[in-house]
Amino acid sequence: MHYTDNYNPTISNSNIFNEIQKEKESIGYYNLVNQDTSELKTYAKTVKQENIVVIGIGGSTLGTYAIYKFLKHSKKLTKKLFFLETTDPIDIQSKLEDIDLNNTLFIVISKSGTTVETISIFKYINSLVKIDKNNTVIVTEYDSKLNAYAKIHRMKTFEIPKDVGGRFSVFTAVGLLPLAIVGMDIDAIIKGIKTTHDSFFDKKNVYRNIIKKARFFVEYKNSFNVNVVFSYSSRLEGFNKWYIQLWGESLGKIDINATRQGLTPIGIIGPIDQHSFLQLIVEGKRDKTVTVIKVDDFDNNLKIPAIELDGLEELNYLDGIEFSSLINMQADATIEAINDLGDIPCDVITIDGVNESAIASLMYEYELLTSVCAKFMYINAYDQPGVESGKIILKKKLKA
Ligand code: PA5
Repeated sequence: MHYTDNYNPTISNSNIFNEIQKEKESIGYYNLVNQDTSELKTYAKTVKQENIVVIGIGGSTLGTYAIYKFLKHSKKLTKKLFFLETTDPIDIQSKLEDIDLNNTLFIVISKSGTTVETISIFKYINSLVKIDKNNTVIVTEYDSKLNAYAKIHRMKTFEIPKDVGGRFSVFTAVGLLPLAIVGMDIDAIIKGIKTTHDSFFDKKNVYRNIIKKARFFVEYKNSFNVNVVFSYSSRLEGFNKWYIQLWGESLGKIDINATRQGLTPIGIIGPIDQHSFLQLIVEGKRDKTVTVIKVDDFDNNLKIPAIELDGLEELNYLDGIEFSSLINMQADATIEAINDLGDIPCDVITIDGVNESAIASLMYEYELLTSVCAKFMYINAYDQPGVESGKIILKKKLKA
């Protein structure tokens, strides 16, 4: 008798780790931790314009927006950053109303170089202001049509490496260029991702939380298909959006056995969503995991003042409490409420502070988690045939 099968073997943690190490040879985002940022920093210093407008969509903007949104009120930035992503005409017009286009650098970012949204908006900008090498820089693949356009017009270009996918590209020029221009410390960003990378790949680190978490998510995906990220900082709203893209576009796939896979990402903000979505978590269907993200040090000492409000004296226990302590206590109360129920999987990530290295480290951790989940699911995290099919249909419709 002879027998063969192609059943998915149960993968051990060390097999998964070896697979990821093998993947490092062909998937570029793992290796961005060792890049040289000097060209980006040198270019950033030459930019005179006060407004920086990024034109792009999806992986070409969401990561940059996540970092900018998290840090912009905590840093003394030298320039303002805007994002033109959507084709909603009211959104385009209202954003442009607030920007002096003659004092603007346009950064057109598209890996493929032919994305309809990006090129449509860029065309529109061309009708409003003279576009040339003095006010436009292009970030794309070296052989894209957008790169050819840039060469014709002698525009400065930065390359998106072929082996770094759109939604994994925030730590290439896609994110680092605009962030460096507005005054963020991009070396601290690289330091943050390197810390996460080195701790994950450290041979001695046998107990890798990322692998443990991915294994749980995948093994229990039929019971807990929804992964809620509950971020306790309004400044993490951009991070939530980026996570939804990364998780959805990378993990919603058909596996090697033709089975549909996927984990559903939800991103909510504490304490606001304590007053809405938390009800669904606590009393709703047990189909969700919850990851609470806290910020250890907001570096802000705004306090609730000791002002007595007539009839509300019973709330005087709030007096003198810093808002940063309040929000963290709210997070802790949510965690305790969830843990007390005993049947909702919950983990807590506490990032150090509101700085470049902390947010970068968190984002890199999610990139690794996505890659590891994909390995457990026997899917390719780095393609997006579902998104591509929509792009092809749209182009056909537009040409008809
Ligand atoms: O992750 C992806 O590949 C996508 O979200 C892309 O980033 C998005 O479709 C934009 O594509 P491009 O950068 O080619 O304009």
